[in-house]
Amino acid sequence: PEDVGIIALELTIPSLYVDQNDLEKHDGVSTGKYTIGHGQKAMGICTDREDINSLCLTVVQKLLERYHIDYSQIGRLEVGTETIIDKSKSVKSVLMQLFEPHGVTDIEGIDTTNACFGGTAALFNAISWVESSAWNGKYALVVAADIAVYAKGPARPTGGAGAVAMLIGPNAPLVFDRGVRSVYMRHVFDFYKPDLSSEYPVVDSKLSIQCYLSALDKCYQSYCQKASECFNEKVDLKFFDAVLFHTPYCKLVQKSLARLHFNDFYSASKEDKVTNYPDLKNFENVILEDTYFDRDLEKAAINSSKDYFNEKTLPSLLVASQVGNMYTSSLYGGLVSLLISKKPSELAGKKIGLFSYGSGLASAFFSLRISQDASDGSDLHKLISLLNSVKSDLNQRHKIEPETFEKYMDIRQKSNHSAPYEPIGSIENFFPGTFYLKNIDEKYRRYYERV
Ligand code: ACO
Repeated sequence: PEDVGIIALELTIPSLYVDQNDLEKHDGVSTGKYTIGHGQKAMGICTDREDINSLCLTVVQKLLERYHIDYSQIGRLEVGTETIIDKSKSVKSVLMQLFEPHGVTDIEGIDTTNACFGGTAALFNAISWVESSAWNGKYALVVAADIAVYAKGPARPTGGAGAVAMLIGPNAPLVFDRGVRSVYMRHVFDFYKPDLSSEYPVVDSKLSIQCYLSALDKCYQSYCQKASECFNEKVDLKFFDAVLFHTPYCKLVQKSLARLHFNDFYSASKEDKVTNYPDLKNFENVILEDTYFDRDLEKAAINSSKDYFNEKTLPSLLVASQVGNMYTSSLYGGLVSLLISKKPSELAGKKIGLFSYGSGLASAFFSLRISQDASDGSDLHKLISLLNSVKSDLNQRHKIEPETFEKYMDIRQKSNHSAPYEPIGSIENFFPGTFYLKNIDEKYRRYYERV
């Protein structure tokens, strides 16, 4: 099959949010710490009415309904998540509740976990399946979803939640490039969830940033090498119309784009350095590994790459700035944001670079090409038109006060893994079509209903 990629795309965000300005005041930190320092505007919140299953049920049902996809057209379904509520039963098995009533049970795929990378791993599996001898001509459906919550402290304002579903098949409007994907994986303890009774991770903040940036360096260098051989042209930031990143918080993404710009400078020829990067000349002789927290270099690289950032990356930060870290779905929320930032005709034929990072660590840099056909009635046109509802979802969310957010966090923490359990969160503000947790019975079985 040719042109394997994303045919349909759906995003679900929480209907509740807390404003980061309010959070700064409530937490007693200096004004601007979360809004400027992290680059965040708001954070999506889930009460005890939502869990990983409900988020995934919502996003899958929404995609199938809005694109009029029949249940029998799905041949593979995979879930990437790090929001674990059962050590044995997969989220995929829970999603089969949507398919079974239609007599559809012949669906491959299962859950994949490694921090924020599980969604990308699931996507790579789905692409491989469509390109393999096991393919039965049907679509693969990839779900990336998480609820990101942190213990009280500096990481708490970098939480969030969301779910993305991607329909994968041939002749797609968003086509993944073949032969250029670059992966970087290592063993580190930067962010992990060893306490199975808690939703909260153990985070080594500084190490997590260092690991993210070093993985970015390695993946990008390897991608550039492969892509320049594959496409027979020089590959640097100019090669891409947009570059999207896993987004723990938006400020890190601006630093990341600057980091790629610095990599371009670093690998450029002597003449190229003088001609095209005069403002970086003082940093010619640094050792890359020593510079993750070099303030002067960071500042110079951010200034030098400002136009690139505004053009190639800023449009992809809408959802991340408003919802926060969605872990596995974060990068794909970036794709959604980019697609709704422009008209279909402005996106036709564009090249997009994507960096996925999951702590622990697993990371990849890969790319996709948007189809040339942006005419009315084209798959690209349809995809973008349907995604535009994300803008109204963002506007129709319900704001809660930081005190209420903390109350919900306490409830989540106390009720985590308890059974039987009757959730107390209101369903009043949920978007139409949202699945929610009705109750957990004495045998820990979870039951869901839909608004
Ligand atoms: N106005 C403007 N900027 C400010 C202000 C202010 N009033 N106060 C502080 N800042 C800036 C700081 O200068 C700093 O800028 P810098 O990033 O350029 O150094 C920034 O705000 C953050 O402040 P810090 O005090 O350095 O860090 P903080 O204690 O807030 O922790 C962190 C931030 C590390 C992101 C924390 O929230 C965290 O651990 N998050 C979870 C881990 C994470 O997301 N890691 C990233 C990759 S792994 C993953 O995806 C989970």
